[in-house]
Amino acid sequence: MTSCVALIVAAGSGERFGGDRPKQYQRLAGRAVLHHTISTFLRHPAVDAVQVVIQPAHRELYDAAVADLALPEPVAGGATRQDSVRLGLERLAALDPVPGFVLIHDAARPLVDDATIQAVRDRLDAVPAAIAAVAVTDTLKRGVAGLIGGTVERAGLWRAQTPQGFRFADILGAHREFAGAELTDDAAVAERAGLEVALVEGNADNLKVTNQDDLARAAMLMNASLLTL
Ligand code: CTP
Ligand code: MG
Repeated sequence: MTSCVALIVAAGSGERFGGDRPKQYQRLAGRAVLHHTISTFLRHPAVDAVQVVIQPAHRELYDAAVADLALPEPVAGGATRQDSVRLGLERLAALDPVPGFVLIHDAARPLVDDATIQAVRDRLDAVPAAIAAVAVTDTLKRGVAGLIGGTVERAGLWRAQTPQGFRFADILGAHREFAGAELTDDAAVAERAGLEVALVEGNADNLKVTNQDDLARAAMLMNASLLTL
């Protein structure tokens, strides 16, 4: 079977979140945000290994956060998310054999669920790239200086999430070719390389912790899911 590695990017500084430490090291339901994210991939049957990308300056926070988990040495990330992903892919490219598939995921999405991971991975049997996404349901307005400057046609619009899954060789080549292109997700890198990218219906609860309110929301959602177990 072709191997599948989860690449978790955790090398950001969390500028918008602020706080006493980067958001991926904030506590959520008793553990670091990053611990939740990694654990879900580590125990997933479709995932053979997990590689994390961190900022070397966060090494102590990282070691404390994942002390109970068995993980390979983390990779040092870069100045942008795109750089961090590319550096992680280069580490995986040095493995022998290289992975067949890679699922790239934001450390800041600790509520990723097993079904979404499985759905993205399954789609890769048929297409070179597949991302979790949620169809837009709100009506979208263009804002111009606090006033509505027009209504945006909602049909066909999706919010891109992670995980974003790829055939490993394809996304490695795309990231090498478009390094520094300032693209905000890996699907955009794949699109630029001309790869066909499938949309997989994800889960609206798979939010990205960006601001402090998001962490409170994540805690509420996590509590709610624990209560129904
Ligand atoms: N990330 C990364 N390397 C970077 C920037 C971001 O690995 N140079 C990671 C973050 O750790 C996060 C994910 O990419 O898990 C999504 O990025 P984002 O939500 O923007 O996180 P930050 O960049 O840390 O936050 P901010 O933009 O508010 O500074
Ligand atoms: Mg950022």
